[in-house]
Amino acid sequence: MKIKAYTTLGIEELASRQENTLERFSSAEHEAMVSQNTGENASSKEDLIRSYLIDNYTKFGALGWFIHTVHENQCKNIVSFGAGFGVLEYLLSMSLPDDAVVIATDFDGVMVDAAAKYLSPIQARRFDFFQDDVKSLCDEIGAPIDLAVFWGSSCVMDDDELIRLLTSLYKAGVRVVMDFDAASMTAWNMIKREAQLWKVRLVRQVRRIPLVNLIAPPSGPLGPVWPSHPGKFHGWHRTPDHLIKQYDAAGWRLAGRRVIPPYNMAGIFKSSRS
Ligand SMILES: C[S@@+](CC[C@H](N)C(=O)[O-])C[C@H]1O[C@@H](n2cnc3c(N)ncnc32)[C@H](O)[C@@H]1O
Repeated sequence: MKIKAYTTLGIEELASRQENTLERFSSAEHEAMVSQNTGENASSKEDLIRSYLIDNYTKFGALGWFIHTVHENQCKNIVSFGAGFGVLEYLLSMSLPDDAVVIATDFDGVMVDAAAKYLSPIQARRFDFFQDDVKSLCDEIGAPIDLAVFWGSSCVMDDDELIRLLTSLYKAGVRVVMDFDAASMTAWNMIKREAQLWKVRLVRQVRRIPLVNLIAPPSGPLGPVWPSHPGKFHGWHRTPDHLIKQYDAAGWRLAGRRVIPPYNMAGIFKSSRS
């Protein structure tokens, strides 16, 4: 089972500029949003790492499991997709021998530039799930990729897009894929989430009737508010079983699975050849 995921991050800004909130972020929209925050303001490696960790330190448990899996499977060449600023990848590289290659990729140029500028020895490259292909990336790297990882980014892709990318990783000879699915949900939570969204949509419609706005809004935790915007569509909430089925369709079998906060589903997938 899967439902659409919406984010309210930067939504007022996008809505006020009449941007299309039904489409996923373009790289330009994402860059504009990120520029206002961490990336452009970071002036050193320490700055970048500090500002990333203040919001992301809860990922350390998952990072520990990731590093353990990388070592257990003797992986040296690692590519992260949708890596953002690449801080998790930088921390991984500190646990690997000097001849290991860690590449952080993202479609957001602001993030990729910050990672390239401050986080050597990792490499940073632009890679868009919807426009770029794994074969060209492998040719550029010039070495086989042992392990690919998605830290909260595979949810951006719809099922057919995810299967296409996973199939090309399989064909490229990647041995292991790890997926930390930040948008994973149980079926029951999906039903509750859809109900919330319908409430927001309904209130937005009713508020178009002029007199309704004279009625005081209900009280929220920060004072009286009407439910505002459902948010911007940015990917998919999937149940763990649904995600595993997509991997299966691309030739990947589940080799390990955990719930590690903040991820409701973290999976190790191995190529069915291995
Ligand atoms: C939830 S963030 C996770 C960032 C990072 N992996 C982390 O854990 O801190 C999702 C990432 O996916 C990236 N992303 C979104 N759409 C993408 C696309 N079409 N191609 C590549 N990356 C994309 C975003 O730029 C963002 O950095």
